[in-house]
Amino acid sequence: MNYNIAVIEGDGIGPEIVQASIRVMEAVGVRFGHRFSFQKVLMGGCAYDATGNPLPKETVDTCLASDSVLLGAVGGPKWDTLPGHLRPEAALLGIRKALGLYANLRPAQLFSSLASACPLRADIAEKGIDLIIVRELTGGIYFGERGRRQTKNGEEAYDTEAYSVKEIERIARVAFDLARKRKKSVISIDKANVLESSRLWRETVHATAKEYPDVAVSDMLVDNAAMQLVRNPSQFDVVVTSNMFGDILSDEASMLTGSIGLLSSASLGDGTRGLYEPIHGSAPDIAGKGIANPIATILSGALMLRLSLGLEQEAFAIENAVNSVLAKGLRTADIARTGEDTLTCSQMTDAVIACL
Ligand code: NAI
Ligand code: MG
Repeated sequence: MNYNIAVIEGDGIGPEIVQASIRVMEAVGVRFGHRFSFQKVLMGGCAYDATGNPLPKETVDTCLASDSVLLGAVGGPKWDTLPGHLRPEAALLGIRKALGLYANLRPAQLFSSLASACPLRADIAEKGIDLIIVRELTGGIYFGERGRRQTKNGEEAYDTEAYSVKEIERIARVAFDLARKRKKSVISIDKANVLESSRLWRETVHATAKEYPDVAVSDMLVDNAAMQLVRNPSQFDVVVTSNMFGDILSDEASMLTGSIGLLSSASLGDGTRGLYEPIHGSAPDIAGKGIANPIATILSGALMLRLSLGLEQEAFAIENAVNSVLAKGLRTADIARTGEDTLTCSQMTDAVIACL
């Protein structure tokens, strides 16, 4: 098969890590008989420098015409003083909106060979961490009615959390579909003991679950979930939650795995096209030195193969190769212990390809 991938290298280490992921996908293509056409487009600071616009129309059009989008990272100190709408972050929000992406998926996986990087007690880490948080991305309190007003007690400010049945159903379906590709279990996280929006969330998740009789669903209150992630993270597989709870819990979960250089993410909407990127930023402090860890972006490519292109075996082959490379003790600088030999970005990529 032929697949068209729009590629946004972005700024800082973006070009190095994206190149790594492209090379790995090409190797997968050779092994499994697929052709990937990668079309590079500008976004972020580099796009502002070249065109005066951090998100040129051509970039949006190319992404809309693609099967899926791979992104490195955007931003850096050079563009920090620009007005809001010209900053690289504005382009990120803009591309998510243009592609209609309302579900943010963040896997948090602890590689057994890196278990010592886990900040949890060894007996907890040994049970393993392999979960994925499905966060609603375009609704809830971050987008609700807000303002300030005068009351008889002085000024007050308010933000409101509103979720419609439609919004909850569509994010629940993303989670249930994903659960079918994993352990067929979903934990839905809310605050239904207090919030009316959470009660509708819970009702709707369970109503939607009826379409997925093969998937087990249970609820957990968000304060308990924050505690359980630290107490026993191995109980979680697919987690679905609202925008704000997902924002907080996904950062908590990612830190359980010890390194930002290993974690991938996906943003999905209706249809199969998605935006895939590492969770880290453009790392300006190490840009151009060739020492960035490419694994987060390589694993983002694997997620794309699985979730957007339906290439499960191919995705698994990449994940397996990454696992083997780490198990052999090969390390980039960010995950090496003092005194250990380190690989450059391209050497790590070579090692993953060799394992494929
Ligand atoms: P960052 O994630 O870029 O860097 C934090 C620390 O982690 C740095 O010390 C960096 O060297 C290290 N690091 C990150 N990725 C690494 C990798 N693959 N290998 C080895 N080390 C790695 O976060 P920071 O410094 O807060 O932000 C830098 C720029 O990136 C900012 O302009 C920020 O706005 C932008 N950013 C962009 C994101 C995106 O494009 N989605 C997400 C987060 C930040
Ligand atoms: Mg956050």
